[in-house]
Amino acid sequence: MNPIEKIIVEHSFDGLCLIDKNGDCLYMNQNASKICSFPIHEFVGGNVKNALKDGEINDSIALKVLRHKRPVSGVVTIRGVDVLITGSPVFDANKQVDKVVLNIRDINELNNLRIDQILSLALKNKPIHDDFSVEELPEIPGVVAKSKAFRKVLKMVYRIAKVDSSVYLQGESGVGKEVIVNLLHRESTRSGKPLIKVNCSAIPAQLLESELFGYEKGAFTGADQRGKPGLFEQANGGIIFLDEIGDMPLDLQAKILRVLQEYEIMRIGGRKNIQLNVRVVSATNKDLEALVKEGKFRLDLFYRLNIVPIFIPPLRDRPEDTAPLAHYFLQQKNKKYGLKVKFAPGSIQLFNEYDWPGNVREMENMIERLVVTSENNEISWSDLPFIKQSHYSPLQQPLKSILLEIEKKIIYQKLELYKTTRKTAEALGISQSALVKKMKRFQLNE
Ligand SMILES: Nc1ncnc2c1ncn2[C@@H]1O[C@H](COP(=O)(O)OP(=O)(O)O)[C@@H](O)[C@H]1O
Ligand SMILES: [Mg+2]
Repeated sequence: MNPIEKIIVEHSFDGLCLIDKNGDCLYMNQNASKICSFPIHEFVGGNVKNALKDGEINDSIALKVLRHKRPVSGVVTIRGVDVLITGSPVFDANKQVDKVVLNIRDINELNNLRIDQILSLALKNKPIHDDFSVEELPEIPGVVAKSKAFRKVLKMVYRIAKVDSSVYLQGESGVGKEVIVNLLHRESTRSGKPLIKVNCSAIPAQLLESELFGYEKGAFTGADQRGKPGLFEQANGGIIFLDEIGDMPLDLQAKILRVLQEYEIMRIGGRKNIQLNVRVVSATNKDLEALVKEGKFRLDLFYRLNIVPIFIPPLRDRPEDTAPLAHYFLQQKNKKYGLKVKFAPGSIQLFNEYDWPGNVREMENMIERLVVTSENNEISWSDLPFIKQSHYSPLQQPLKSILLEIEKKIIYQKLELYKTTRKTAEALGISQSALVKKMKRFQLNE
């Protein structure tokens, strides 16, 4: 590619992907990887037939273009993310399809449009959403970030990573506060130094002080005879993460405030001050301001901690993250247990219907449980506990499940009409084996 072509391709609004006549992926631009939420190197060099076999994609537009020798559009699920793909053939001198160019668009952005509008726009090959912009962010291993809201949080983390201001993370349990702390540490100038995590609600109040500040030998009965450095000392040069800070007793709050003002500590039973150089990150799922009003949290400490406040929205407020997270955890747990469990078609869409009171942690635990308990290597709708709790309203079916139901109905009607699978397949324009597969999936008996 010459430099101008490269600019055009890399700044294209669409995700772009080039497939050769064997189905090998030759090239993919940055936006394609963003829209599909996976790193480029995981796809380029791979083959679409393998991806299809492995369930990474549920359909291949490229193979259809190769077969039909004309442009083809359709909705494809790539690792759980629905994308709209238009494939265009590139012909060689013998009028054979030599390569296929794929334009990939984010369907979550299109959810408010009707499917026929989407498809007709796609067939005309017009951009569907002008307003679509993803903020520039590097790919972060182990962190799934598709939603604008979460990407904003990450942007902020990168912005403040290199300075030493105190950071205060607010967000419900399981939203990823610890994920943020780990990233902040990695990106900070203190990355080579310790990151010490303290869960203030897990340590009994009477132990917390000695844990945080340490003690000299003989400081109190039962104390280790050699004395012990506290967590602040252990974090020296690095970052201390005070998790669940809202649960810290008031008397300790006063001592923490002193540390943050003086940047020195004294061990319990000690005589000399120890100079400290720590950056403080604190977090809570409580409303600290409300605690301040109730007199349970010191206002002066609140101000000290709250130099850079970062709010991490709950999962239900960033639905774009649910499917990519679900797929990420599926892969992770499959790897952990050496399994090959898949989501049944349509099941992953239902994740958006649920409220996720336990946020990302709840999803992670649920998927782990489903992966290890799945009987036929497939997680189907009916396995999802929140469906069983009938939280799910059939009035809010996602597109995929509506389409599947229609498909099932049509196949059923044609089978009634034509009786044999051969004739039915012919009438539907699909192969007999494809029909039998679908019948199995829909549990339609011959
Ligand atoms: N954006 C994300 N990408 C990948 N994993 C995530 C993400 N957010 C949370 N997790 C995972 O979910 C679980 C809960 O996250 P955690 O950071 O411990 O939440 P919190 O500290 O807010 O309670 C962890 O296992 C974490 O790795
Ligand atoms: Mg936590």
